[in-house]
Amino acid sequence: MGRLNNLCKKMIGFYRGDPARIQHFLKVHSLARLIGQEEGMDEKSLYILEAAAYVHDIGIRPALEKYGRENGALQEQEGPAEAEKMMRELGFEEKVIRRVSYLTGHHHTYSNIEGLDYQILVEADFLVNYFENHTEQENIKKSVEKIFRTETGKRIAEEMFFPQEFVMSETWAQDGLQELDDFIESQGIYIRQ
Ligand SMILES: [Fe+2]
Repeated sequence: MGRLNNLCKKMIGFYRGDPARIQHFLKVHSLARLIGQEEGMDEKSLYILEAAAYVHDIGIRPALEKYGRENGALQEQEGPAEAEKMMRELGFEEKVIRRVSYLTGHHHTYSNIEGLDYQILVEADFLVNYFENHTEQENIKKSVEKIFRTETGKRIAEEMFFPQEFVMSETWAQDGLQELDDFIESQGIYIRQ
């Protein structure tokens, strides 16, 4: 635990002043760990997955510094060396560093996902990105069908973005306005003329 927390703290420092990036990897880590545990991952693989979730986007900063842009390919190109350097400084095992470095260098490549750690990292990253990028429902649906493999990941995607229980009432717009009116009155703010 100690070393993973140190990695998390280092990453917060790495993206200092950029709360969006910091909150991004914290969310990806949290979902990746949850999915990994629920899917019965062994401890060593879970450890690698958690480390990879923290550092997976480490390539964005060097890509921006070097090229002024940060597409997926540049992130994959710049990420591994940076991740290796940080993890070596923190004393991670060489075997762990190698796999995390590989995952960092491939997390935008979906054509040949091999390994549960790789699969879950991609799913967790997608779950967070759909929300952060305001992805349209139809596109979320297509990409979940195409890319998600774990039952836990699919279930989370469904509950987060396609809750079956949620049925829009025919008067939903009206209800919304009424709720807004009630809220405004309860707050004592009077903006209607
Ligand atoms: Fe990401």
